[in-house]
Amino acid sequence: MSPFHLTRTLPEDATDAALRADVLDGLTRSPKTLPPKWFYDAHGSDLFEKITELPEYYPTRAEREILIARSGEIAAAAGARTLVELGSGSSEKTRHLLDAMSGLHTYVPVDVSESALTQAGQALAAERPGLDVHALIADFTAGLTLPKTPGPRLVAFLGGTIGNLVPAERAAFLGAVRALMAPGDALLLGTDLVKDPSVLVAAYDDAAGVTAAFNKNVLAVVNRELGADFDPDAFDHVALWDAENEWIEMRLRARTAQIVKVPALDLEVDFAEGEELRTEVSAKFRKDGVSRELAHAGLDLTHWWTDREGRFALSLSSARPAG
Ligand SMILES: C[S@@+](CC[C@H](N)C(=O)[O-])C[C@H]1O[C@@H](n2cnc3c(N)ncnc32)[C@H](O)[C@@H]1O
Repeated sequence: MSPFHLTRTLPEDATDAALRADVLDGLTRSPKTLPPKWFYDAHGSDLFEKITELPEYYPTRAEREILIARSGEIAAAAGARTLVELGSGSSEKTRHLLDAMSGLHTYVPVDVSESALTQAGQALAAERPGLDVHALIADFTAGLTLPKTPGPRLVAFLGGTIGNLVPAERAAFLGAVRALMAPGDALLLGTDLVKDPSVLVAAYDDAAGVTAAFNKNVLAVVNRELGADFDPDAFDHVALWDAENEWIEMRLRARTAQIVKVPALDLEVDFAEGEELRTEVSAKFRKDGVSRELAHAGLDLTHWWTDREGRFALSLSSARPAG
């Protein structure tokens, strides 16, 4: 069994303070919003794993296909001794990468979901003697600092999770990731690609209703943590394609006019009948846009791989030397 460390980079009450701030800000805006990171309590993380197995949800299968085909090339190009994975979740697909990275010393999975991190990190440490697993409970959008581990580092951000950030957030995020990278480090980025909107919408509105349950889980989190009285059955799950922004939006639409109380914030929130609360955007990308956004952050695209059907891409980029 390898060493397994779990580090919380924020004080315990920081999560609580961040949730309060996000709920207060998001529910008093017009239109109302909540950030997607609050889906992922233990139940939400389990629901996300179920989503990855749905027939409609192709991104996980497409990205796994690329990792199976290309992990050897990725490992050779990166030559990394530390693999940092942002939003690692179950780390399931990462196993292909870990298998290929023969010189790897340390794996640093980073996630807001303590349950997902603990489960995945302990399993990997038990299975892979010699691999140091240093899990970080942290928000990758909020001043991430990494443990001192041997370089070079490969920073992986899989699952198309970058699409959950809107363009200004992506620019800030990529700039912050670049600032964490030393010469010789690389970024492996998974991006879902623009395609037929009917395929995209189905991926976020499956027939079995798992994505609807995942979407409504954010209401359960706010109820439990802030004493709110959201009735999840009083909202409908909505997934739609925004052709101008090239992103999927998930929303919760109030079935009737209602008032929701959030006692921890001393807040009452009015919903009109049919009013929608935005819970997630999931941007879809094209190669030019990815390359441009990386370049803007000081990262040069060196490799671009897609699955056979061209649904999803993995790109490798390297930190451009400063100056
Ligand atoms: C779409 S899932 C992808 C999981 C996994 N990487 C995959 O490809 O299947 C997003 C993951 O990122 C985590 N996450 C979301 N927002 C986060 C944030 N701001 N900071 C850290 N982790 C976050 C979630 O808990 C979840 O595990």
